[in-house]
Amino acid sequence: MSTKEAKKEITDLTSKINYYNEQYYMNHTSEISDYEFDKLLERLIQLEEEYPELKLEDSPSQRVGGTITKEFPSVKHDYPMLSLSNSYDKEDLEEFDKRIKKNIGNEFTYVCELKFDGVAISLKYENGILKQGITRGDGYQGDDITANIKTIRSIPLKIKGEHTPSRFEVRGEVFMPKSVFEQLNIEISEENKKRELDGKKSLPILANPRNTTSGTLKMQNSSIVSKRKLDCYLYGLIGEELEIHSHSKALEQLKIWGFNIFPSYKVCENLQGVFEFIGEWEEKRKTLPLETDGMVIKVNEYESQQLLGTTAKSPRWAIAYKYKAETAKTILETVTFQVGRTGAVTPVANLKPVVLSGTTVKRASLHNANEMERLDLYLGDKVYVEKGGEIIPKVTGVDISYRKEKKLIKAHFTESCPSCHSPLFKVPDEAVHYCLNSASCKPQISGKIEHFISRKAMNIDSIGSETIKEMLELDIIKNVADLYYIKKEDLEKISRFKKKSIENTLLGIEKSKEKPFEKVLFALGIRFVGETVAEKLAHHYKSIDKIISTSIEDLIEVRDIGKRIAESVHDFFRVTENIELIERLKNAGLNFTLSESLYELNGVEGKLKEKSFVVSGVFENFEREELKDLIKREGGKVLSSVSKKTDFIIAGENMGESKRTKALQLGVEIISEKDFVKLLD
Ligand code: IVH
Repeated sequence: MSTKEAKKEITDLTSKINYYNEQYYMNHTSEISDYEFDKLLERLIQLEEEYPELKLEDSPSQRVGGTITKEFPSVKHDYPMLSLSNSYDKEDLEEFDKRIKKNIGNEFTYVCELKFDGVAISLKYENGILKQGITRGDGYQGDDITANIKTIRSIPLKIKGEHTPSRFEVRGEVFMPKSVFEQLNIEISEENKKRELDGKKSLPILANPRNTTSGTLKMQNSSIVSKRKLDCYLYGLIGEELEIHSHSKALEQLKIWGFNIFPSYKVCENLQGVFEFIGEWEEKRKTLPLETDGMVIKVNEYESQQLLGTTAKSPRWAIAYKYKAETAKTILETVTFQVGRTGAVTPVANLKPVVLSGTTVKRASLHNANEMERLDLYLGDKVYVEKGGEIIPKVTGVDISYRKEKKLIKAHFTESCPSCHSPLFKVPDEAVHYCLNSASCKPQISGKIEHFISRKAMNIDSIGSETIKEMLELDIIKNVADLYYIKKEDLEKISRFKKKSIENTLLGIEKSKEKPFEKVLFALGIRFVGETVAEKLAHHYKSIDKIISTSIEDLIEVRDIGKRIAESVHDFFRVTENIELIERLKNAGLNFTLSESLYELNGVEGKLKEKSFVVSGVFENFEREELKDLIKREGGKVLSSVSKKTDFIIAGENMGESKRTKALQLGVEIISEKDFVKLLD
């Protein structure tokens, strides 16, 4: 095949596939079968591999992903991405309307659009081609997530039409359709069933479509993003050379260019029209395939928008109207209490099952004693249940009119631990009650161990929560330190454990000993010490002994550590059991000094001393973070980009192309993970 022929075929295939894509994702029709479509795409990918220089900028092969992005570069927005002020009732909107009229008179219209509950995105187009997709970030700079954005089928890689401005920016909301979200959770539950049988830790159920969208957009592997079926509605157009004077015209133009515009928006002559549109969508919005949480009301004419201007946070020409969260009414049957790993006791309302936003609710959170007091609950009460952003719904109020009976039993907060019955303790000025029996209160013990082995802590994924329960029941372990002294014979006591699962469990425990100090510190589960605080403490003090011997005053001096955290850390190390636990973990070989400075501290030279590395791609035998830890531990330096100072690049699968090119230009040695292991040997 000549280059000319290849070029023609690539061009034809590109426009054909883009056309079918648009038909499918925007107009919901398909003119060819999935099989035929896949064949066309396969052929295009094959040709693009043979003739990479002929790949077009709007090639649909980008939709399937494949790029691995290690760190999303931070980019400044050309125009800030502001947020909206909120309103909750008619009065708020009347005030908004009054303010506007006072400033610009009566000659303007409003546009009402639904408020989509997803993740804000800014898309930059140059000469009609999608160049960059950036997250909102702090409003002034966000992350460049272009590769992931390109996998969203309804976002045009190239706009339609001949006369396109050389540059413009489109703003919109990326979302995950409800059905995709539900399916994903079904798949997770299925996977968890398998994991449970294998004695592995279960994956967390996803909380809501918005958080899932946000997490998906930050995934490193764009081919996974591609499979997640995200979608996007656009609601804003910005540019210097646009002959457009109102928001409604901008929406029309965006539609012509091929963007996905939610069809039901309305230009309203006055506030009355706005109220009607809000009322019309109050119920209807629940039948939409995506989550919406309100209406956005915008002054339509750009000139008026300009006159009104913006505050530092939000435009004065727009406001969000929030619909009330969905509520259901049901009977409060009982109130029970749960103990978490820190000993905090939470009240839970057990309800007569009721359907709320499509799922059956049987339990709801009552938060703490103050909240129970505020609600003034009696058993048998009819209560209002509301679903916020979290998985767990909450009780928000009582329908007093229903409370007729004489013999009322008030729902009191408990005085003793629901599990070990120790009396509870309340910190003055805090709403939470604690069980202080951390040494033998069962849910606290299992909660602590679960936290210790969790992904962000020691990451021992060969152990699941079921296994922990069994280990505790069979007295194989009593605390986290015992994990490191488990023998093969101990695990043989667990009846469902076979040779393989025993090996895996022991291997997982052994491997966790490599975790750096900051993870170990986080894993200890000190109250108020999350991942970030653990990192800060580890980097500041560099060893556990220094943290143990420091004073509250000294802890407060550390950046971002307040009195509350300082006291909690200090208290933790005053408990003899905790010190004994740390000693046993130390003896087992866990890291209690910062690996980065291990050599500085000990004055020993590491095998990689004065060598600097860039780690790029995905590896067979290591997580990328593990490789970095290893380098640091051996006295080497980890750099994020390739420069003359780089000695080696450890290249994994899908290593970044730009890094490879730069390495070749600068003559930096590219090594494989196997070569790296040899260096260490
Ligand atoms: S207009 C100046 N229109 O709501 C901001 N925003 O709280 C202009 N959102 O960050 C935004 N649907 O992510 C606009 N139809 C809509 C929207 C919408 C959802 C989000 C957007 C923004 C947030 C503001």
